[in-house]
Amino acid sequence: MPRIAYVNGRYVAHAEASVHIEDRGYQFADGVYEVCEVARGFIVDMPRHLARLNRSLTELSIDWPITRGVLPLVMGEVVRRNHVVDGLVYVQVTRGVASREFFFPPAGTKPSLVVTAKKADPAAAAKRAESGIRVITVPENRWDRVDIKSVGLLPNVLAKQKAKEAGAQEAWFVDVDGTVKEGGSSNAWIITRDGVLVTRPAEHGILRGITRTTLFDVAAKLGLKIEERGFSVAEAKAAREVFISSATTIAMPVVAIDGAPVANGHPGSITVSLRRAFFDVAEKSPA
Ligand code: PDD
Repeated sequence: MPRIAYVNGRYVAHAEASVHIEDRGYQFADGVYEVCEVARGFIVDMPRHLARLNRSLTELSIDWPITRGVLPLVMGEVVRRNHVVDGLVYVQVTRGVASREFFFPPAGTKPSLVVTAKKADPAAAAKRAESGIRVITVPENRWDRVDIKSVGLLPNVLAKQKAKEAGAQEAWFVDVDGTVKEGGSSNAWIITRDGVLVTRPAEHGILRGITRTTLFDVAAKLGLKIEERGFSVAEAKAAREVFISSATTIAMPVVAIDGAPVANGHPGSITVSLRRAFFDVAEKSPA
């Protein structure tokens, strides 16, 4: 079954889908993106993802490439055309195609829009959650506007590759003050000995993850307390449970940090219950 991508108004064969060599996303990473989970045929938390996309575009003064209300229809169409029941839908908007100048392109330059969808195996994800993942820590070396979901992800690529080479699945960026910021493609959480969820405030220095936001709703439903504050690597290593969150991992247990086991080295029960309750609490839009 050939995959289909949406590129600037057309549904095209994924294998042949392309953008111009002078697309500003290609030349300057001058663009933003969103990744939504697709689960059981539903796009998860789409309104929250679109609100964040709007914020990213606004912060960078990039216009909407199509009417905001039409994007969910395109996303749904791409999911359906690719027969994705479980997986993800990816949306990327760049400042468009223009002769390579650092200045913004002339008024009227159309932003580029690409939408793709990919299948994932929920059984494989469940298996990963049963064993948990390993993280390493790296010094923060990104710009200070990581609250914008920009496609400029080179530090994240390098950090995650370093994690992979160390036998881990995620890298945590650690601030100069020793507190954990977030992962290369996820937010970071710990659960204290008293069962309190702790995650860094999202006002500055991290991406306000949509999964993170919805986990606040899940925690409320489960009667769990959340504290928004920084935590150190040492505190995480001594925590009752540790996990990461993102659209592609939901709540994923962390069982080792820099090679040291977390608690007994197995996924914790609170993380498992957050993961189980997530889909029921999240907003589901039929694809
Ligand atoms: N990444 N922090 C960073 C740096 C991220 O890249 C992501 C998501 C998150 C979690 O955000 P959300 O819960 O909205 O997915 C936090 C996506 C999944 C990616 O780049 O593939």
